[in-house]
Amino acid sequence: MQRERLLKVLVIGDLGVGKTSIIKRYVHQIFSHHYRATIGVDFALKILNWDHKTVVRLQLWDIAGQERYGNMTRVYYREAVGALVVFDMTRASTFQAVLKWKGDLDSKVALGNGRSVPAVLLGNKCDQLSTGLCSKLPKLENFTRDHGFVGWYETSAKDNTNIDAAMMCLVESIMAVE
Ligand code: GTP
Ligand code: MG
Repeated sequence: MQRERLLKVLVIGDLGVGKTSIIKRYVHQIFSHHYRATIGVDFALKILNWDHKTVVRLQLWDIAGQERYGNMTRVYYREAVGALVVFDMTRASTFQAVLKWKGDLDSKVALGNGRSVPAVLLGNKCDQLSTGLCSKLPKLENFTRDHGFVGWYETSAKDNTNIDAAMMCLVESIMAVE
């Protein structure tokens, strides 16, 4: 018999880092250069045939970057089992905000056993190698480990780089703890 798992996953990070674009790429295989800020939260659903007996319903919560200054995140984070924390490789300030998002996450949601929910770090817009600070970024292995992320990826929603891999990494971590 097939079993079904509903996983609530958050996508968080500063304004304009590409959270909505990553989700649109992953779920609908589309990309647009047009920027429209998310207001509050948006939702998307991706169905994964995880293995021969498990269907995963991945419920993606696309949280507006401006919500870091609001007080709704406690409500949005409730019962989440994983998160993608996104920054923009061309803007250092968005990398500095990563720890604020991770701290916000860990202070407001945890797994049943008290451990923090698995989080994967995404450096997005890696297609802009020449214009960004990509080359100046240290490799993030140590940062990732020191701050409790389960993995990190350089991604591009525009070129469809590592989006699937990052999602897989997160879902595997979630399925491993549950
Ligand atoms: P908020 O909803 O305000 O929090 O922003 P967001 O994180 O959802 O960002 P969004 O996906 O709306 O993208 C912001 C801008 O960056 C848009 O103009 C996108 O086209 C652009 N963008 C997103 N991902 C990429 C990428 O991988 N490469 C490039 N070159 N541009 C990108
Ligand atoms: Mg958005």
